[in-house]
Amino acid sequence: MSRHKIALVGGGAIGSTIALMTTQRVLGDVVMLDRPEYIDPVHGKALDILAVRPHFGFDVDLTSTSDYHMIEGADIVVVTAGVPRGPNMTREDVLAVNIKIIEEVAGKIKKHAPDAFVILTTNPVDAIVHAFYKHSGMKKSQVVGLSGALDTSRFKNFISMETGYSVKDVSCLVMGGHGPTMIPITRTATVGGIPLRDLLSDERINYIVERTRHAGTEIVNLLGNGSAYFSSASAIVEMMESVIFDKKRVIASSALCEGEYGIDGHFIGVPCVLGSSGVEKIIEFKLTDDEQDMVDHTLQSIKKTVEQAGIIE
Ligand code: LAC
Repeated sequence: MSRHKIALVGGGAIGSTIALMTTQRVLGDVVMLDRPEYIDPVHGKALDILAVRPHFGFDVDLTSTSDYHMIEGADIVVVTAGVPRGPNMTREDVLAVNIKIIEEVAGKIKKHAPDAFVILTTNPVDAIVHAFYKHSGMKKSQVVGLSGALDTSRFKNFISMETGYSVKDVSCLVMGGHGPTMIPITRTATVGGIPLRDLLSDERINYIVERTRHAGTEIVNLLGNGSAYFSSASAIVEMMESVIFDKKRVIASSALCEGEYGIDGHFIGVPCVLGSSGVEKIIEFKLTDDEQDMVDHTLQSIKKTVEQAGIIE
């Protein structure tokens, strides 16, 4: 069996962390791609990661380049290109600059890796993934944004921190836009099969929900320069593994809804089955009236950004 090929468009903090994680997990051969003016540090990171291989004995290739021909035949493309927000900025503040970058890479990815499954992290991600979808002309099953995989890991982490129980036993879901309107679903959250609501008070659950909604901002403010990358890269790797190994994991991702949850024609975080055909299904389940109201609210905020960016009229 030939090895999988993974292309990382953008060699910043998230891209290079994914490069390290994917080579360590022997997921496939990796190509790191960035613009010529940014490529020297990427060459440096690639060389550094290559020298990790002898420690653990993994035989995968890792190349760094500015030449899109090198991504030809990629099974997975992860797009992290774009500028991160800084302290006191919203994800929407980087929209104008990032949309230009994404429009440029969309055509190139479509040209050189038309069959790839593409995961985008560039913010504001729900609007950016929509722009990518539109400009690339790729299928909706091939294109997703990173949202729920990361937001859910944060929700799980805070539940584990608050209860003191293993992260492994926490099961939960975060839906909606990747921003303060996201919806950590508390009704279905469990630890070891026990409802979260039987383990924590409403007040502590509300605290966790709010901290999850603002977890990215909390990190941006602490870092002072750039945004979260270890957890973002881990979330991407989890999504990639589900596709590469056809695991059919149920992972919330920003996917194109066409009627699901009353959403039509927008990318938004919903539970997706990720397998070798990409987004194989969006799973729908019955929401309470309150949850549906929150979905409608988060959708309004995505619509506003998408319209502001001129992605849809
Ligand atoms: C965050 C960025 C990646 O949530 O949006 O940390």
